[in-house]
Parts: sequence; C-alpha cells; structure tokens
Amino acid sequence: MDKYIIEGGRPLYGEVEIQSAKNAVLPLLAASVLTEERVVIRRCPRIADVLNMVQILGELGCKTGFEGDALIIDGADAANHEIPSALARELRSSVFLLGSVVARFGRARIAYPGGCDIGLRPVDLHLQGLRRLGVGVREEGGCIDCSCSGVRGAEIVLDCPSVGATENILLAAVTARGTTVIRNAAREPEIVDLQNFLNCMGGKIAGAGTSVIAVEGVRRLHGAEYTPLPDRIEAGTFLIAAAMCGGEIALRNAKSENLASLIHKLREISCKIHAKDDKIYIECGARRLSPKLVETSPYPGFPTDLQAPMTALACICEGSTVIVENLFETRFKHVPELIRMGADITVRGRSAFVRGVPRLHGADVCASDLRGGAALTLAAISAEGCSTVVDLGFVDRGYSDFEGKLRAAGARIRRVRV
Ligand code: UD1
Repeated sequence: MDKYIIEGGRPLYGEVEIQSAKNAVLPLLAASVLTEERVVIRRCPRIADVLNMVQILGELGCKTGFEGDALIIDGADAANHEIPSALARELRSSVFLLGSVVARFGRARIAYPGGCDIGLRPVDLHLQGLRRLGVGVREEGGCIDCSCSGVRGAEIVLDCPSVGATENILLAAVTARGTTVIRNAAREPEIVDLQNFLNCMGGKIAGAGTSVIAVEGVRRLHGAEYTPLPDRIEAGTFLIAAAMCGGEIALRNAKSENLASLIHKLREISCKIHAKDDKIYIECGARRLSPKLVETSPYPGFPTDLQAPMTALACICEGSTVIVENLFETRFKHVPELIRMGADITVRGRSAFVRGVPRLHGADVCASDLRGGAALTLAAISAEGCSTVVDLGFVDRGYSDFEGKLRAAGARIRRVRV
C-alpha cells in the first residue's frame, strides 16, 4: 500500500473543489439496480468504495462505465441476485443492495458486510425493516439470504435512527405494494439526496430530512440523471485542516447548511468562516482556545465521521477538550498514533480527554480506518518536521486525490509506493 511523506508546518491557501458525497453516491448506486433503464450519476468520485460498488453492480449483470466524471449504469441485463462475498467484505455499503436487489429480483444473497473496523456494526435494524416489508430473511454460514414474492408496505419504527437501515428500507419500499412509513428515521442530508434521486426515477417519497418518511409504493422506476450532493465530511476535513495549519482557503461545491455543527464549533474557537452560494471561506490565524466539549450524535449533531479530525485539532489547541464518541465503540484508533506525534490524550471508554500542546512533531504513523487516516494526515501537515502516514488504502476509500488537493493549497505532501 502507498504512504504519504509529509513535511509539516505550512499554512494553507487557495481553493479546494469538494467531491460529491461518498455516503450519498453509494446508496444511489444501490438504487440504480431498481430500474432496467439507464442511470447517470454526474460528478461521481472515483474513490475506492465507489469503484468497489461499481464492480458489484457489474457482477449483478449491470453494464457500467465512466464518461468523463459521469458514471453510466445500464441495468437492462442485470439478472444475478448474489453479491460476491469478497466484494461485500470490502465495503459496508454493499448491504444496501439487499433492499434494491430483493425488490427487483425477489431474492438477494450477501455475505456479512465489511467496512472500517470502528466497533460492532450490526445490521439487525436493516433486517428487521426488511422483514416488516414481507421479506423472508435467513442468516446462515456468514451469509444473509432474502426472498419474497413481492415487497409490501408497512409501518416501521426504528430502535435508533440508523442511516443505513433507513436507506435500505427506502430502497425496498419504493416499489412495494402499498404505503410504508418509517418512524425514527435518520435525518442525514444523504437520505434527502436518496429520496430526491428515487423521486427523479418516479418514486413517491416524502419526509426525508425529518424523522418520519412516507413512501407510496410505485409499480416501476425509470432511468434518471442526477448530481449527488457535495461531501460534507470532505468539506469538514478541509475546514479542520485550515484550522490546524492556519491560512485562508475557500471550498467550492460545499453546502454550509449541512455543516452547521462543525462551523459552530470552529467559530467558537475563533476561526472566521462565511459562506456564499456554493462556497465556504475559512480564515484562521494563531493558535486557538480548545473547543472544550465535542460530542458526536446523529445529524444534525456533530458527525462521528469528523470526530477523528476534530480530535487532531484539539491536540494543538490551548486548554483541554473532552471528545465523546456516542455512535461507534472503537473509533479512537487514531489516538495512539497522535500520541506518537506528541499529543497528550487519555481515552476512557467512549471519551477522549485531550490536553492541548503547543505543536505536534513529525512521526511515522499508521492509518487504521478512513477518517482516522485523514486525521493523521492533517496532524502531519500541521506538525513540525517530517512524517510518514502508511496504509493509505483506508484514506482512498473516501477521499479522491486527498494529497493533490492539500498540495495545491500549499501542504508539502507526496504519495510514494511501498
Ligand atoms: C453511515 C455512514 C458512516 C457514518 C454513520 C453514522 C454511509 C455509507 N456510512 O454508516 O460514514 O459514520 O452513518 O453517521 O452512509 N446500528 C445498529 N443496528 C443496525 C444498524 C446500525 O445497532 O442495524 C447502530 C450502529 O452500530 C451505530 C449506529 O446504529 O452505533 C449508527 O449506525 P448507522 O447510522 O447505521 O451507520 P451506517 O449506516 O453504518
């Protein structure tokens, strides 16, 4: 796997183009199985998770290909209902295919999905939801087998607002007989994007973005052309990068309204941020006071996917910060690596206690999940001296040309093959 070699300590200046959201594109790709007609996803990022999902679509019998940055999916000949185990283990979002594949073919089979190792990631709510929709679900030999003779609408109350379960249920329910109501649904912007896309295909869904979503089943869906929403986690990563390194950057293709909780925290610690049209501008000077408390929670709370970068920022603030991770059990694997760079952090259960130091120093560190890898990269570009970050496969899952964008903003970072 590749590694970064980074010489830290330079401020960031310039403009960064934000990609379409990974977490929006993946469910849209699963949704494309629902039609025999052509689907075009414009501005589709070529990140590893997307490329893996495209490969799975190919295994199901869809024809796929890029034209420039648009991904074309033609599901006319799709016929296979088995998602290959090796690919399913590569990415967690493969589980979304259960909903759409069973809705189209009446059967779906998948190995338990993989993804980043950030704690137990059960799929019980996905399966409960599918069962409520009349899908027979059997779990045996590390595989999930779904079958039904027609999905039918139902009222579903989620025990917790799971993003993936909400999306999976939407995908199964959009062409079901009758009406489905999802209560305690997740409210993430990516769910609104999935609703909008399915409605472009002829679906009748309302309420996404609130905790009650109503789906009036339609008989069939047609093709569509769609531009997914900008990646709020990538945008947030660059805002935190500017807060750590200092300087002044503008993010193009960014939606500030989807980043309100982060922007609020950064303003509290005196970063100057303003937004206009599809741009967010950030300006940061000297070392700032610590954010005191950062607690992750479902949208619109502080996103768990920005917890690791925020922990890296807290390391070099003045004062102490308590970081509470409420969504995933073991999402602090970046902490021992930050400590190698001179950070002062103690983890107890779901909380990290960070005592700020004036600066981090360069070190050889190892990414062990996607956002943790991004956090270590930010720590390295803001640190004094030289660092290497290894195991970039994790970073490549979610960021397209991360190093190129940072380099264009003035960071000294290069990727080398090992
Ligand atoms: C999605 C995002 C991920 C993000 C997470 C939380 C995608 C592709 N990934 O993941 O980047 O970190 O939302 O914002 O969109 N849970 C259960 N049973 C289930 C499903 C979930 O107990 O069947 C629990 C999980 O263990 C976790 C919580 O619910 O504690 C939230 O998980 P969920 O919202 O489902 O996250 P993902 O969809 O996996």
